[in-house]
Amino acid sequence: MSRIALVTGAKGGIGSTITKSLLEQGYRVIATYSPGSEESAQEWFKANGFTNEQVRLLALDVTDTAFCQESLSVLLKEEGKVDVLVNNAGITRDTTFKRMTAEQWNEVINTNLNSLYNVTHPIFNSMLENKSGRIINITSVNGLKGQFGQTNYSAAKAGMIGFTKALAFEGARAGITVNAIAPGYTLTPMVEKIKPEILDSIKAEIPMRRLATPEEIGGAVAYLASDAAAYITGETLSLNGGLYMH
Ligand code: CAA
Repeated sequence: MSRIALVTGAKGGIGSTITKSLLEQGYRVIATYSPGSEESAQEWFKANGFTNEQVRLLALDVTDTAFCQESLSVLLKEEGKVDVLVNNAGITRDTTFKRMTAEQWNEVINTNLNSLYNVTHPIFNSMLENKSGRIINITSVNGLKGQFGQTNYSAAKAGMIGFTKALAFEGARAGITVNAIAPGYTLTPMVEKIKPEILDSIKAEIPMRRLATPEEIGGAVAYLASDAAAYITGETLSLNGGLYMH
C-alpha cells in the first residue's frame, strides 16, 4: 500500500512544488482545491502530466467544518489512511489595520487558521488510531516577525505556530510529529501581487538578496515527512534567506 499525503491548496505556488516533491518521495498525493476552481484544478493536473494513481483531486472548502468532516471521513474510508498532512492553503488580504474590513479579517482567519481545525481534526484522529503520522503546517516569516499591512495574516500565521506546538504534545506518544515551515518571501503569484517598489524594499532587507524558490519549500516538506526527521516535533523551520533570525 503506497504512502498517502494530503496537501491543501495543492495547485498554488508553493502547494504545487510540495505536491511534486512528495510524489518524488513515492507518495500518492490527495491534492485539495477550493470548490469553484474545478476547471483550473483539472488544467493543473493535466499540465503537470499527473496520473490518477499519483494524484487525486479533491474539492475541499477548508473554511467549512461540516464539509471537511464529511468529505475527509469519506476520503479516509476510500484511501484507508493519510500518512502526511500538509496544511498549506492560505490567502492574503493585505491592507493597513485602520482600513481593514471585518470581511478581510475573517476571510484570512477562516482560510489560514480555522482551516487547521477543519482539516486536521478528522485526519489527526485517524492518525491516532494508526499510531503514526506527520503533520506539516505552512506558516510564514510574517507570523514570526509581523508585517506592515498584514495584521490578519500575521495573526493567523502566528496562531498556526501555537497550534503546531500544542498538537505536537498530543501526538507525540502516538508517533505523530507536528511541525511548521515558515517560508520567507517566495517566488509565487501571492508575492507577485505586492507592488514592485514595496517588493524591492523587502528584497533589500533580505541578507541573501533574493526570494525563496517554491522548490526550496517543497524540499523542506519532503525532509520533515522523511524518516530522517522522525525525532523533530513542535518545531518551526524557517526558510527566509536570513530575513528573520529567532
Ligand atoms: N513601516 C512603516 N510604515 C510603512 C511601511 C512600513 N513597512 N510601509 C508603508 N508604510 C507607510 C508609508 O510610508 C505610507 O506613509 P504615508 O501615508 O505617511 O506616506 C503609509 O504607510 C501607507 O503605505 P502604502 O502607500 O504602502 O499604503 P497602501 O495602502 O498603498 O498599501 C499595503 C498598503 C497594501 C499593506 C502595502 O503597504 C503592502 O503591500 N505592504 C506589504 C505587505 C506584504 O509584505 N505582504 C506580503 C504578501 S506575500 C505573503 O504574505 C507570503 C508570505 O508569507 C511572506
